[in-house]
Amino acid sequence: MENLLSFVKNNYEVYVNELADYLRIPSISTLAENKKDMQLCAKFTAEKLKKAGLNRVEIFQTEGHPIVYGEWLGAPGKPTILVYGHYDVQPVDPIDLWDIPPFEPTVKDGKIYARGATDDKGQLYVHIKSVEAYFKQKGSLPLNIKFLIEGEEEIGSKNLEPFINNHKELLKCDTVLISDTSLYAPGVPTITYGLRGLCFLEVEMTGPNRDLHSGSYGGSVANPVNVLADLISKLHDKNGKINIPGFYNDVVKLMPAERENIKKLKFSDKNYAKELGVSELTGEKGFSTLERIWARPTLDVNGIFGGFTGKGAKTIIPSSATAKVSMRLVPNQDPKKISKLVTSHIKKIAPKSVKVKVTDLHGAYPVLTPLNHKATISAKIAMEKAFGKKIVFMREGGSIPVVATFAKLLKVPSVMMGLGLNSENLHSPNEHFSLKHFQLGIISSILFIDEFSK
Ligand code: BES
Ligand code: MN
Ligand code: MN
Repeated sequence: MENLLSFVKNNYEVYVNELADYLRIPSISTLAENKKDMQLCAKFTAEKLKKAGLNRVEIFQTEGHPIVYGEWLGAPGKPTILVYGHYDVQPVDPIDLWDIPPFEPTVKDGKIYARGATDDKGQLYVHIKSVEAYFKQKGSLPLNIKFLIEGEEEIGSKNLEPFINNHKELLKCDTVLISDTSLYAPGVPTITYGLRGLCFLEVEMTGPNRDLHSGSYGGSVANPVNVLADLISKLHDKNGKINIPGFYNDVVKLMPAERENIKKLKFSDKNYAKELGVSELTGEKGFSTLERIWARPTLDVNGIFGGFTGKGAKTIIPSSATAKVSMRLVPNQDPKKISKLVTSHIKKIAPKSVKVKVTDLHGAYPVLTPLNHKATISAKIAMEKAFGKKIVFMREGGSIPVVATFAKLLKVPSVMMGLGLNSENLHSPNEHFSLKHFQLGIISSILFIDEFSK
């Protein structure tokens, strides 16, 4: 084991260079113009899996972007791990706010900067390298391993669920291992045991059949932008609760042990506010900040547009207005049920003066993973050894749609061995990944394989 770990340390620069090649591919899943890059990126992933020593690697085409699968099943009778990750990334805009071009990876102060560095190429590459190092040093693995790397996570994993449903035997495993979440703090080993779900709606309001002169017509017809703003303001009450009847019906309360755990983490509202450049924090009354992010549902407008948004002034009453509204959900809320509930509520409270269209763009189920599962215990031991510190268990406010699918269709838990930091600018300009965490991640992954094989 010692040889293996020093092998990783000696080869780590090579790994960083390979990761940079991976990050150079602009695999933005939501943009049609990057369709070819998605194919390239899937191919790159497949090649690295082969090079790592897996003996069956396949690219499965889907209606959207390809899924990459790889396996090594040379340890009959031993457990099987399924490593999940995503090679797709978020768009780069606003591009002007990047200090480097987003697809020209740059190492600075022990961090690698590029779109996808922490979410999720850097984190998933950890496991490819751990397997490769294992094979190179020991010739074989002490357990069986499968990889499932998709290209549509950032757009809701629409084609992954049917794929899993049609390949249950292929994907059969004892646990899923995922690095696509965050550490609680730099250098602190962390296991994430809960994710929020998501319901993403687009709300479009249409008033007059064309833009109107706001002088000639102002005062006579509804202005869809005004109406939309008014409607949005009604979706919360003065205590920060979501003001939609039935919205909280399925929400599971935090367990006392969880509240205790959160208290022990000694989260500082003050430092958090300072780091974000705001003078105070807000949200639902009666819950601490971590409770609100991890275990309470929220509703936010992601973007709003309509009418004249160019430079200068133009006097019109716009014909339409649109808001992109998302809700983060917690166990046991059901995104499909919430989508129906919220759609009918919006239609009900909107005035007759506008037409309303609500479109469900995508969703994800919330999840909690078992803490007493052998895989979680192995991950705890592995990470504590690698990082030299005690593990922190936390929940995450973000979503990974497939985690609930694994539980439902494969009936296995997922261990979320996150290696990123929420401050590493995922989804925003200057995304980066700590190279120290990259290295500790590879070591954690190796120790996990070792521990889980026992
Ligand atoms: N890796 C993130 C999930 C995440 C976010 C983990 C923040 C840790 C901290 C994932 O790639 C992601 O962005 N998920 C989307 C899912 C959505 C598009 C269905 C999300 O949460 O917005
Ligand atoms: Mn991710
Ligand atoms: Mn993401």
